[in-house]
Amino acid sequence: MRDDLKLGIIGAWGRGMVGRHGHKPGEGSRITMCCDIREKAIDRCRELCGPDVGFTTDYREMLASDVDAVFIGTPDYLHEEQAIAALEAGKAVYLEKPMAITIEGCDRILATAMKTGTKLYLGHNMRHFESILTMKKIIDSGTIGAIQAVWCRHFIAYGGDAYFKDWHSEQQYATGLLLQKGAHDIDVIHWLAGGYTERVTGMGKLSVYDKCKRRSADQRGDATFHAENWPPLTQTDMSPVIDVEDHSMILMQLDNGVQASYMQCHYAPDSVRNYTFIGTKGRIENVGDSGACQVAVYTTRTDGNAALPDIAYNHKPQSGGHGGSDPAIVQEFVEYVRDGKKATTSPVAARYAVACGCCGTDSLRSGSAPRDIPPLDPEIVAYFENN
Ligand SMILES: NC(=O)c1ccc[n+]([C@@H]2O[C@H](COP(=O)([O-])OP(=O)(O)OC[C@H]3O[C@@H](n4cnc5c(N)ncnc54)[C@H](O)[C@@H]3O)[C@@H](O)[C@H]2O)c1
Repeated sequence: MRDDLKLGIIGAWGRGMVGRHGHKPGEGSRITMCCDIREKAIDRCRELCGPDVGFTTDYREMLASDVDAVFIGTPDYLHEEQAIAALEAGKAVYLEKPMAITIEGCDRILATAMKTGTKLYLGHNMRHFESILTMKKIIDSGTIGAIQAVWCRHFIAYGGDAYFKDWHSEQQYATGLLLQKGAHDIDVIHWLAGGYTERVTGMGKLSVYDKCKRRSADQRGDATFHAENWPPLTQTDMSPVIDVEDHSMILMQLDNGVQASYMQCHYAPDSVRNYTFIGTKGRIENVGDSGACQVAVYTTRTDGNAALPDIAYNHKPQSGGHGGSDPAIVQEFVEYVRDGKKATTSPVAARYAVACGCCGTDSLRSGSAPRDIPPLDPEIVAYFENN
């Protein structure tokens, strides 16, 4: 029997706690250490994973310990520094999306992973959503022909609470929410459409939350969702600095000819992520992305509204966070580190998602001027494609 893989969590409060799915003492992996700058986060992690879990407030101390791999679930602006340090320390890395807040930051992480030969895995958990996997299977089967156009609309009911009360609201920490939130969807669009964005143009603005009451700079932001914070203009305790957009729209030209659009809104009453992929023989559309949801396939021509899809795939709610994708992605990470199992997520794709998010943001802040995505060094692409 092999010893458990020793795992550490850096940023042990919100998303970083996805790592707890890897806490399976005696079954291949366990959390042995956690790191957070807040005592409350450390206490809760040790409540969930056990009092034997070591702790520190300095991630470098964790990197000097005997952990084999680390989950990095800290705010976006810390990803580059912490991922590079972990890779240099020889610790396999599970890095949350977005990979970094700049293209250059991503490229430095990739170069470090290649130089050190340390394993790098990106936490794009949407690649494990049942709805996304169903859409990928339908597209790959050729049922709707060759994809030509993609549309994605993303309504985010929790946006005002989650992204305008803490670090997410500032460009210096997030670049923008088109990148922060959209990195998921841009990655899905690239994956399912089979290409990366090479040119992007955008439009967007801060239209609502700049008009809401602010908290003082010395008061801690509380990003907890409260349904009663509605309508959006009644929100209070917003960040003292808000310089990111609350709605954004981009048009993407992919390198394989596919054209795509992505739209995001943070003051909608409901949370819906709706993709439409249109091919030369039909289209698909999802209703709901996790929990009880459906992927509808339309292939019959009708003169008017199609009453019902030709095929409908209905998914039932799965246990585990994010529609069951969280335990699945952590399991895959552990197997990737332990046994070299091929990863479903891709560091190169994660970099191109960031590149599109950054260039789209730059475009929408520059009068919608189109922006070309800088290509990644082919040597780096080849290195990661060979796993
Ligand atoms: N894949 C997904 O579905 C998903 C969902 C939510 C968030 N995320 C990503 O996860 C990351 C964290 O997001 P969040 O919403 O949990 O953020 P958060 O601010 O709620 O939590 C981050 C934690 O990191 C800690 N932290 C801050 N600085 C630190 C440091 N220097 N060293 C150690 N710990 C530090 C904070 O105290 C906090 O406990 C972000 O990059 C976000 O994009 C991914």
